[in-house]
Amino acid sequence: MIDLVGTVELNEITAAESGRRYGHLRLRVDHLPEVQPGQFAMLKACGAIEPLLRRAMAYYKVAATTDATRIEFIYQIIGRGTEALARLTPRDKVECLGPLGVAFDLGVAANREVVLVAGGAGSPALYLLAAALVEREIPTRLFLGGASRGDLCGLSDFRDLLGSNRVVTATMDGSEGWPGFVTAPLEDHLATTSGTPLIYACGPDPMLHRVARIAAERKVPAQLSLEAPMACGFGICVGCAVPVRADCQEGFVYQKVCTDGPVFWSHDLAW
Ligand SMILES: Cc1cc2nc3c(=O)[nH]c(=O)nc-3n(C[C@H](O)[C@H](O)[C@H](O)COP(=O)(O)OP(=O)(O)OC[C@H]3O[C@@H](n4cnc5c(N)ncnc54)[C@H](O)[C@@H]3O)c2cc1C
Ligand code: FES
Repeated sequence: MIDLVGTVELNEITAAESGRRYGHLRLRVDHLPEVQPGQFAMLKACGAIEPLLRRAMAYYKVAATTDATRIEFIYQIIGRGTEALARLTPRDKVECLGPLGVAFDLGVAANREVVLVAGGAGSPALYLLAAALVEREIPTRLFLGGASRGDLCGLSDFRDLLGSNRVVTATMDGSEGWPGFVTAPLEDHLATTSGTPLIYACGPDPMLHRVARIAAERKVPAQLSLEAPMACGFGICVGCAVPVRADCQEGFVYQKVCTDGPVFWSHDLAW
């Protein structure tokens, strides 16, 4: 990990039919160590005192050229930190600590179908993963859910990457795809597919809990990327602890989402 200063090239704000707002931020940095799918950065405007703490964001896209690297993030605007990110304009400077965290384990994906499951602002964490799977020619399908059409973050990029027929959408208001939770078409697919696929998922906690339950019922391995609130992002504050099953009297120990995760096997989590 390194602490970089990025220069804003683009910061586009959109509003979904649900009323939620999202920012698409592109930064230019001079150099960035290799980013693995699922890793994240801690971001805030350079020198900002309010809010003081950086906010965790998954790398959405990373593109290196000979003179610079461009990194992109998609963020939902929900509180003080993301409101501050939304105020950034081209040429502003951003503190960007990363890459952080344990990436998705791609080694287990060979010779099986991969099913990606994303909810709302969880989908940016899966784009680099989807690109890596496509590069390895691993058959990959995405189930992408949100409150409304505009909450399906990165939809057109995922369709371009995977092909429209391999992206299944679901919205709570029925404006795009299946009406209701994204876990409904996921269950439908798992009930009809042959073989044992592998699930990678990122999204709101209730969605991840449901995905973990479905995976356990169907004996499908699943890796989940958790989005716990974080203060430091690199193992110092212990604010991001999550219970993980362990062979001890309590039956679990706490691990840190920032350094032991954010990616965990669903069967390891003692939620
Ligand atoms: C590894 C990781 C990757 C992430 N990647 C993305 C991403 O790509 N795009 C994106 O939009 N968001 C992502 N998040 C979530 C993002 O970090 C939070 O939404 C952000 O920190 C909120 O900051 P805020 O100051 O705007 O909100 P705050 O004022 O801090 O909080 C506003 C509300 O949101 C809740 N909240 C705060 N942090 C989180 C969180 N991490 N998860 C759920 N609820 C939270 C608070 O409890 C509060 O109710 C990621 C989080 C982690 C840990
Ligand atoms: S965020 Fe500080 S220890 Fe994880």
